[in-house]
Amino acid sequence: MTDTLTITRPDDWHLHVRDGAALQAVVPHSAAQFGRALIMPNLRPPVTTAQQAVDYRQRILDAVPAGTAFEPVMSLYLTDKLPPEEIERAAAAGVKALKLYPAGATTNSDAGVTDIRKTYATLEAMQKLGLLLLVHGEVTDPAVDLFDREAVFIERVMIPLRRDFPELKVVFEHLTTQEGAQYVRDADRFTGATITAHHLLYNRNAIFTGGIRPHFYCLPVLKRETHRLALVEAATSGSPRFFLGTDSAPHPAHLKEHAFGCAGCYTALSAMELYAQAFDNSGALDKLEGFASFHGADFYGLPRNSGTITLKREAWTVPETVPYGEATLKPLCGGEQLAWKLVA
Ligand code: NCD
Ligand code: ZN
Repeated sequence: MTDTLTITRPDDWHLHVRDGAALQAVVPHSAAQFGRALIMPNLRPPVTTAQQAVDYRQRILDAVPAGTAFEPVMSLYLTDKLPPEEIERAAAAGVKALKLYPAGATTNSDAGVTDIRKTYATLEAMQKLGLLLLVHGEVTDPAVDLFDREAVFIERVMIPLRRDFPELKVVFEHLTTQEGAQYVRDADRFTGATITAHHLLYNRNAIFTGGIRPHFYCLPVLKRETHRLALVEAATSGSPRFFLGTDSAPHPAHLKEHAFGCAGCYTALSAMELYAQAFDNSGALDKLEGFASFHGADFYGLPRNSGTITLKREAWTVPETVPYGEATLKPLCGGEQLAWKLVA
């Protein structure tokens, strides 16, 4: 039995850090775990220009504790009207990706894309300049059941998109279904996917065990057990298409424990411990390094990190709350014991 695991310093390819006091509270947690993180642009207002991304990146860097090396990799928020010229400015400023939120799909997505065809000139520029398209892969059609929105997105959006832009690198973010996992597994090298720790560890029963449990509510929502098993199989398969993206999405506890509770699980505090648990559960700890430290960097065309982290099999209790500006934040698994601990 492996009790100590040292791997190349991992990256988080899907992270929400918000702004202001919230940003100050959460950035140190990610910086302690990861070498880099792809920063999601769904602020209010969203990050839609290269200049906003450059300024946001600096605010994130200012919140990284002294002596810690942590690099925010920036993305812009794709809208119906984002001009192709902005893609040139973004590429020149080091922005790596654009995030496609179907309008209304999730937190701060009202400025999102209403019809992907409206963005084709911009996608053309991205394909040419090598910027990635990160997709929130759910349709918003109210006639489609919430639990089927990812599968329907493949048919209605992904397949036509891949046909029209075969060399655009596309990341299917936070996969949650067997259909999504199969689609990405069988796709060519221009398609990849992130998988969260919570979708590897929990199925939808977690939201309803002993009462409604808002801290397990995120989007795309947790699915049934067959889907969780398909995600575990994909993540531990060694396929370079699948890589780590926590989708850690902080919200003040009082806005999650609310009649209209916000979507998002806060996992950044113990991200690698949660992934280690998921991989250990299926006897696949030897596959964690590829998933967490290599596949994402390779897909983004960035160098792999040079340092390492070490995880130890050592029980510890996740804090129930952490400060979050004037509010509090409840990490996923707060108050519970985890078997793995990040020690260096
Ligand atoms: C994210 C957030 O809160 O910004 N919420 C979530 O449930 N994952 C948005 C998103 O990534 O969908
Ligand atoms: Zn997200």
